[in-house]
Amino acid sequence: MTKTLLVTGSSGLIGSEVCLHFGRELGYSVHGIDNNQRAVFFGPQGDTRWNQERLGRELKGFRHWELDIRDRAGILALVKSLRPSAIVHAAAQPSHDRAAAIPFDDFDTNAVGTMNMLEAARAACPESPFMFLSTNKVYGDAPNRIALTELATRWDYADPAYANGISESFTVDQSLHSLFGASKAAADMMVQEYGRYFGIPTCCLRGGCLTGPNHSGVELHGFLSYLVKCNLEGREYKVFGYKGKQVRDNIHSLDVARFLAEFAASPKVGEVYNLGGGKANSTSILEAFKLAESYTGKAQVYTYVEQNRTGDHICYYSDLRKIRAHFPKWDITQSLSDTVGQIVESWRRRPRV
Ligand SMILES: NC(=O)c1ccc[n+]([C@@H]2O[C@H](COP(=O)([O-])OP(=O)(O)OC[C@H]3O[C@@H](n4cnc5c(N)ncnc54)[C@H](O)[C@@H]3O)[C@@H](O)[C@H]2O)c1
Repeated sequence: MTKTLLVTGSSGLIGSEVCLHFGRELGYSVHGIDNNQRAVFFGPQGDTRWNQERLGRELKGFRHWELDIRDRAGILALVKSLRPSAIVHAAAQPSHDRAAAIPFDDFDTNAVGTMNMLEAARAACPESPFMFLSTNKVYGDAPNRIALTELATRWDYADPAYANGISESFTVDQSLHSLFGASKAAADMMVQEYGRYFGIPTCCLRGGCLTGPNHSGVELHGFLSYLVKCNLEGREYKVFGYKGKQVRDNIHSLDVARFLAEFAASPKVGEVYNLGGGKANSTSILEAFKLAESYTGKAQVYTYVEQNRTGDHICYYSDLRKIRAHFPKWDITQSLSDTVGQIVESWRRRPRV
């Protein structure tokens, strides 16, 4: 019998990659929920309709549902009618900085929307893996307390305990999260609880920077995608604090989708994984400028603002040892450099907004 996948946020970076991967490579029948809320959060630059249309063209049998995850009755009815074999929940208000201006939209989407999905799953398909895209912002700014060393173009951990990065046992409370980090942490706890309390095979993936050619990058979300877009258009990129040496680890959306496929095949209950590019795919903003320039031949135009973004990580890269130990067949396949090359190509192909 054909397996069915339900993806929320299907027109977004992760959702669309997951739809294509499960549909084409694994033969799932794929249903996506998205209402282009990204355009409401970020304006026309965040519009994801182009990606929804791409899915319609490229994925045979793809079924789009124009639904808001805040619509509790609508979500329950759809999940009951589909009884999917697996759920990937990737719809969100995804911006750390945007959340303070829209606190109710942020919480209703991230925390309550996740509850709607969890309850619908419990009612309709409690045996199906439920995979939630959480975030490394659940750790708040606590990683900034780790002793750092300043190198020529980046910060790095001075404490050898973090030589492999931040692990899943890192504290999630008593630090500054941003409203986004707190609403995602609420959802993350609930997803774990539906695993432990009800026995549903859930996982929380605490993402570093998730990236790839199909991101609709905007200043407030989608670091590499937006940086490359600025480079190509000669648009000014604003660096906020930390001398531009702040470090993020970047993972290609394909490697996220490949992980989700592994989890769906061998699910566990109430698990938490840090999912990022790890140290090998980490970059500072200054280093990312150089990488983009190496593909485009254009000098990055940028200004430096002394004030860092509230609660922004100075140095963050994921410790991938737990995820690799639990899923030895999975690993990073897309290097940072290749990923930037793909993002450059994608912006060149896309119509200007
Ligand atoms: N991209 C990153 O760097 C990153 C990092 C850590 C965690 N995450 C998490 O991964 C997930 C996917 O991120 P992304 O980068 O693909 O984001 P994205 O904005 O590209 O995709 C999210 C999609 O969800 C849709 N959406 C938002 N609110 C909705 C609602 N109420 N109802 C229906 N659809 C709605 C949007 O229109 C958008 O198409 C999110 O949960 C995000 O918090 C992303």
